[in-house]
Amino acid sequence: MKIGSIAQAIVALQRGDVVGMPTETVYGLAGRIDQRSSIEKIFQVKKRPFFDPLIVHVSDIQMAQKLTTIWNPLIEQLTKVFWPGPLTLVLPKSTMVDDLVTSGLQSVGIRMPRHPMALELIRQIQVPLAAPSANQFGRTSPTRCDHVLSEFLDYESVVLDGGESEIGLESTVLAIFPEDKNSEAATQEFMQGRWNLSILRAGMILEKDIRVALKEFDNFKFLPSIEKKMAPGQMKHHYMPSIPLILFEQNDLMEFPSELEVLKLAEQEFDRLPDKIDEVPIKKPKSFHHAERIFLDFDPILAARRFYSQLREASSNKEVDVLYMVINEGHREEIWKALMDRLTKAASLRFRKNRTYWELF
Ligand code: TXA
Ligand code: MG
Repeated sequence: MKIGSIAQAIVALQRGDVVGMPTETVYGLAGRIDQRSSIEKIFQVKKRPFFDPLIVHVSDIQMAQKLTTIWNPLIEQLTKVFWPGPLTLVLPKSTMVDDLVTSGLQSVGIRMPRHPMALELIRQIQVPLAAPSANQFGRTSPTRCDHVLSEFLDYESVVLDGGESEIGLESTVLAIFPEDKNSEAATQEFMQGRWNLSILRAGMILEKDIRVALKEFDNFKFLPSIEKKMAPGQMKHHYMPSIPLILFEQNDLMEFPSELEVLKLAEQEFDRLPDKIDEVPIKKPKSFHHAERIFLDFDPILAARRFYSQLREASSNKEVDVLYMVINEGHREEIWKALMDRLTKAASLRFRKNRTYWELF
């Protein structure tokens, strides 16, 4: 890939290629939803399994409405408050959306990104763009243009340079479906219908923000979880840096492992350190000389913005054998939830302090 202009991105999209697109969350690898071959290309270029559905990006509300069979005051309110922005709504899909985009599901994830370049690109091409994060499957998501370039060195197309992503973590994915699944009326007649909401992926828009936005509504409830088959793509491991990341969960702020202790634990558990997780290769350390600690910013907004870049930078240092992070009680607050989800999935091993020693769990 190389850096290009919006005009060049349009040409690439017109001929059925996929392009790198900046968004406020992370960079996406975008393709037109009206061309099956472009959608196939997204999966191929990313080496993404077909069971993992794509999010469709729009530049205006009319475009979003055409993708789904329901639109009601509750959805209207959510889009009014949070769009453009890092909220993906999973809604029943219309026939405009190819099964390949949704991995055969009858629902589709829709989002209006806030980055001006993404909005301009979609506005000009006048077709919604499906876009997963622009990284090889299972890997750390890109938050800068050069991250995208390094993920797809051999693929000939363009990426738009939109600077550093403002949010830095993927959007909150919120599913909305009628409480009574068999009720046709529920989907047709909003006022009579009751709705279930469920956050399928944590992001920087929190459940409490959604509740505030919907304070005038009393016809919905949040479900903590839904059937697994309705929420594919929730792999146990994901976002992984190319060298192993070890996570330490402290109970007491005074307890954190020294670099030496980390190296000793890593060596001791070497056999458990994977060279592949869920088909994603991890460089198994050849020596245990240097463990690099990744520090999270105290401010959750800044911590989220920087996290993926930090992972990339630290794991590209040839001197480093393993990475480690220390998290504590304070990180249990809801504002840290998305980041904790990502770093737990990115970690190869997790330790917790048990009286006097670090225990694997
Ligand atoms: O912030 C974001 O959402 C970024 C930017 C590029 O917009 N995109 C992104 O896409 O994170 P991706 O492909 O890495 O993650 C999409 C995830 C899927 O893995 C799945 O968990 C969920 O969104 N998803 C998409 N469509 C769905 C559907 N119809 N039903 C349930 N979950 C869905
Ligand atoms: Mg992704």
